Amino acid sequence: MANTTRATPLPNEHVLVAGGAGYVGSHVAWLLCRLGFKVTVLDDLSTGHRHAVPHSATFVHCDARDTALVSRVFAESRPTAVMNFAALSLVGDSYRNPIGYIAHNLTITLNLAKAAAETGVSSFLLSSTASIFGNEASQPIAEEAPVRPGNPYGESKAMCEQVLRWLEATTGIRTAALRYFNASGALLSSNLGEAHDPETHLIPIVIQAALGLRDGVDIFGDDYPTADGTCIRDYVHVLDLADAHVKTLLALRTAGGLRYNIGSGRGYSVRQIVHAVERETGHRIPVRRRPRREGDPTTLIACNDRIRNELGWRPVNSGLATIIGSAWKWHVNHPSGFDTLR
Ligand code: UFG
Repeated sequence: MANTTRATPLPNEHVLVAGGAGYVGSHVAWLLCRLGFKVTVLDDLSTGHRHAVPHSATFVHCDARDTALVSRVFAESRPTAVMNFAALSLVGDSYRNPIGYIAHNLTITLNLAKAAAETGVSSFLLSSTASIFGNEASQPIAEEAPVRPGNPYGESKAMCEQVLRWLEATTGIRTAALRYFNASGALLSSNLGEAHDPETHLIPIVIQAALGLRDGVDIFGDDYPTADGTCIRDYVHVLDLADAHVKTLLALRTAGGLRYNIGSGRGYSVRQIVHAVERETGHRIPVRRRPRREGDPTTLIACNDRIRNELGWRPVNSGLATIIGSAWKWHVNHPSGFDTLR
């Protein structure tokens, strides 16, 4: 699988990866370790997996909502850079507990920002989301689009981005926020892939149905104003996301206030994803029409021009066949997710 980053750490460069046992965080931690960075992963393992943490990273089992504990970890480990992936991240769930969602995500970012300021960290990178843009954003969505979150999850990340703004303005810590579109795919060579419990994301659900691990796929709404009536999303391979993080980390050595939208620049409907998995796997997948899921925007497609032009990033692994092919192999080899590795 192609990867474009050839980065060399500076002497003493040490990245603290909060949420580094989760899906995107573990792939980023893996790439950083492979490139020779010193990495500390901080994770409460509430949704992440200990087996997903790279062997060469230091692991700290810690709930990042604990202000004193986070400050102590920073004081002891003295990172030079922070990446924050630790968050609740499900759009649908965020409606059931909107204030809890916002409090959770904001508290973690505030704690990390406070500890970073206390210990002389020089850069802070936030895992943000396309959900900060509302349903009315014109497609493809560029960084200049108005930030108008259409759901509580997106709102929590928009607030975290505001924290970064003030962290940078008042402390000089250089900050970046990467707004991902739909992370997907797996890194087979390192036994890394997507494993949520319960699973709510479209591609793993469709693949589980193809494998016979569930009896079909619910399509949440087929009355959207799209060609086939189902929602359109921009699927970006998790390895391309990891590459974007490393490129941004390098850029943060000299620049701040970085905001990038990260997607492939192409959109696929829910039905197109089901058909693509059928095509790639040769399995027929039963579908059921269901009502719309609350908070789902009709279409989210990234304009990725800024990160292409400024950092030379390219979504080299984000063709649909590569994404589905790698996710398929991961699920075939890990039918119980990371439990398969125990
Ligand atoms: N969908 C179905 N059936 C399912 C699961 C999903 O029809 O069983 C639909 C959803 O309604 C949506 C699309 O497939 O239209 C994609 O849904 P996902 O749950 O896979 O992903 P989301 O777009 O809701 O959200 C994901 C991440 C968020 C992130 C967002 C950015 O979970 O954290 O992408 O685009 F903010």
